[in-house]
Amino acid sequence: MSPFPTALPTSRVPDPASAPPLRWGILATGGIAASFVTAVRAHTQQRVVAVGSRSKDRAEAFAARFGIENAYGSYDALVDDPAVDVVYVATPHSEHRAGALAAVTAGKHALVEKSFTRNASEAEDVFAAAATSGVMVMEAMWTRFLPQSDVIRQLLADGALGDVSTVLADHGQYFADLDGSHRLLDPSLAGGALLDLGIYPVSFASFAMGTPESVSAVGTLTDTRVDAQVSIVLKTGAAEAVLNTTLLAETPTTASISGSAARVELSGPFYAPGTLTLKAVRGGPSLVRGPDAIAGHHGLCYQAAELARCVAAGMTTSPLLPSSETLAIMGTLDEIRRQVGVVYPGE
Ligand SMILES: NC(=O)c1ccc[n+]([C@@H]2O[C@H](COP(=O)([O-])OP(=O)(O)OC[C@H]3O[C@@H](n4cnc5c(N)ncnc54)[C@H](OP(=O)(O)O)[C@@H]3O)[C@@H](O)[C@H]2O)c1
Repeated sequence: MSPFPTALPTSRVPDPASAPPLRWGILATGGIAASFVTAVRAHTQQRVVAVGSRSKDRAEAFAARFGIENAYGSYDALVDDPAVDVVYVATPHSEHRAGALAAVTAGKHALVEKSFTRNASEAEDVFAAAATSGVMVMEAMWTRFLPQSDVIRQLLADGALGDVSTVLADHGQYFADLDGSHRLLDPSLAGGALLDLGIYPVSFASFAMGTPESVSAVGTLTDTRVDAQVSIVLKTGAAEAVLNTTLLAETPTTASISGSAARVELSGPFYAPGTLTLKAVRGGPSLVRGPDAIAGHHGLCYQAAELARCVAAGMTTSPLLPSSETLAIMGTLDEIRRQVGVVYPGE
């Protein structure tokens, strides 16, 4: 077991402004698309050159709001724009496969919002098409690319936690009062807590302890038959993860990885830039890393920079979140949904 460190490791994540520029097309004009454009504009050299929407009016309004050169009234027109190198797919989960396939078959790289697709089978379709086209497709699990995640990566690699036994993470937001037609409650848009919020704890457990050997889940469904709440236990070797996601309450949304020597904790919301604490067992010393200057959803810029660096290096997957791990995570989500009884129309 390594001795308790005298200082926390320094993040090796490069300044997002140093990543070589790509020309981005934004596919859809909803909430996260706006946050993404704001973040990459503020902190990177990435150029947003086009936006596509199902409605020409919405594309033009989005383009006017962000000063984007080209606005298209269809997703096909966006992916066919020769000035676009990479497409950011920001539609509801049910539409990710179609958006990503459109991009990669047009020869464009793609950054696809989480959860990557509705299920593992759809994810396989996307990665197979990307391999055929020789382009890069990455899941926009932005937490994975934050500097704080690289500190945890080094703590795990150094053995600073000792033998890891326990991972705890939750993500709950109060959405129970939403109209039943909202995408979060709509099975035809692959709604539910798990794919929208629960993906963060599940991805965090994958990061901390790898792909689970066993998955156990219980859940509560909404009147619309998507998951309102799910509690999950994952097991890999001697390590166990206890995870919760809910649309019924605002939970702490914290995460920790605990071992025989120490635990690392992320303040809530753990999926965004925040405070990291390393605490030795039995009341020993602790080390704290404060929040980074790039805060909140501005942290979305790191995933764009990572994709741009990988593309410049001729890579088609990121070692920080390889396509094989995204596929495995989709498999875990499939098994959780099977156990709680959520099936999307047409699956
Ligand atoms: N990383 C994060 O922090 C974060 C935060 C929130 C959401 N997300 C993810 O981002 C994705 C989109 O979420 P959002 O909150 O941005 O959703 P949203 O505000 O509802 O926007 C989704 C957009 O998708 C397009 N769309 C295409 N087909 C649609 C359909 N059948 N019904 C509704 N909209 C459709 C629409 O754009 P047009 O009408 O212009 O075509 C719509 O504006 C999801 O995968 C979600 O999990 C990530």
